Amino acid sequence: MRVLVVGSGGREHALCWAIVASPLLTKLWCAPGNPGIAQVATCVPIGALDIASLVAFAQDNQVDLVVPGPEAPLVAGITDAMEAAGIACCGPTAVAAQLEGSKTFTKDVADAAGIPTALWERFEDAAEARAFIRRRGAPIVVKADGLAAGKGVVVAMTEEEALAAVDAMMETRVFGEAGAAVVIEEYLTGDEISLFALCDGETALPLGSAQDHKRVGDGDLGANTGGMGAYAPAPMFSAELAEACLARVIQPALREMARRGAPFRGILFAGLMLTPDGPKLIEFNVRFGDPECQVLLLRLKSDLLAALQAACDGELRNFDLRWHDTAALGVVMAARGYPEAPERGSVIRGLDAAAAVPGVQIFHAGTEADADGTLRAAGGRVLTVCATGETLRQAYDSAYAAVGRIDWPEGFCRHDIGGRALGRG
Ligand code: AMP
Ligand code: GLY
Repeated sequence: MRVLVVGSGGREHALCWAIVASPLLTKLWCAPGNPGIAQVATCVPIGALDIASLVAFAQDNQVDLVVPGPEAPLVAGITDAMEAAGIACCGPTAVAAQLEGSKTFTKDVADAAGIPTALWERFEDAAEARAFIRRRGAPIVVKADGLAAGKGVVVAMTEEEALAAVDAMMETRVFGEAGAAVVIEEYLTGDEISLFALCDGETALPLGSAQDHKRVGDGDLGANTGGMGAYAPAPMFSAELAEACLARVIQPALREMARRGAPFRGILFAGLMLTPDGPKLIEFNVRFGDPECQVLLLRLKSDLLAALQAACDGELRNFDLRWHDTAALGVVMAARGYPEAPERGSVIRGLDAAAAVPGVQIFHAGTEADADGTLRAAGGRVLTVCATGETLRQAYDSAYAAVGRIDWPEGFCRHDIGGRALGRG
């Protein structure tokens, strides 16, 4: 198979790393990729959102399967465009990607399918939104309806914060049109967990659960980020609970999407809150999480490429995945200043020594290489330093041993990834 992965982050590096191990693969490209990906795939200088050029490239190079990593090209219709050109693409159509692209769409689907979720209301008028907040009081959650690069959610502990969020989203339009409407919802408490499933429109194959760490600082302090680390499996998420979430959240969503004539194919990522009243849906994403993907794929024993192809073919009913009985943990190393204003250009050394720690796998995200091979920071999240171990503790020790070997004074990471599961905090 000739395969094109789309994206340039740690998630896409992990996808390429897993796909390259498949006996089905004859050629792997990644657009646009990064220097880490370049070690396993041929990088193509086409941006992830340049759909017309990606389709032309796929046609010219007889690509059999396209695997988009991030949500933006999916929401923009890369699957529709590839399929129109006769090329299989393992992701949802633009309509199905509204499960991530629009909070209102997701809430509608959840209500129609009977999926437990926070009570909510949608507002297109800022005055009405403010009146609702004053009526309901805090804590309360304000969400920009559209895509806001993971930053469009304000969990307001006071009424003032909630009102300020409405001003910022609806009046100042800090997220542009994504804030033309807001969803305001009930505040939920509990442990947060991410559940992943590979879907073929009808059947959902569980890909496991992981816990992310969204705040930039140790102890869950500081600004929200794309994710500073993850581990899998999450010990508080029993097989029983996973089964219940599949039956009550993922499968009803697939049935409802099929009923709407927009069957969901690709990776469905459910963000769940384990509340005292049972698991409730916080959000859907229509792709792997980053860095959750990195730790999930480190535990996968089966051929990822065969599974992605089966999802495209609608053949998951007869498919099974096997997993290593190990724990995996990933630590994101970010450039100083992330998430507000990451510094670019600092030199990163010591990756070979770090990768030599047993069980360690390093995935690149925002890196760039000079002509002489010198590696530099070129983004916010720069590396995901991952490790597997027989126990989560071993995975933690190995990952942080590797971090300690990386010579990059301008980089930083959290030191408490997996802390909750390891009983510290
Ligand atoms: P989202 O982008 O919808 O995942 O929201 C980002 C984060 O906000 C989530 O990971 C949760 O930690 C938090 N969050 C979202 N909705 C709620 C809610 N209804 N109650 C409490 N926290 C929430
Ligand atoms: N790490 C969370 C996400 O990818 O959305």
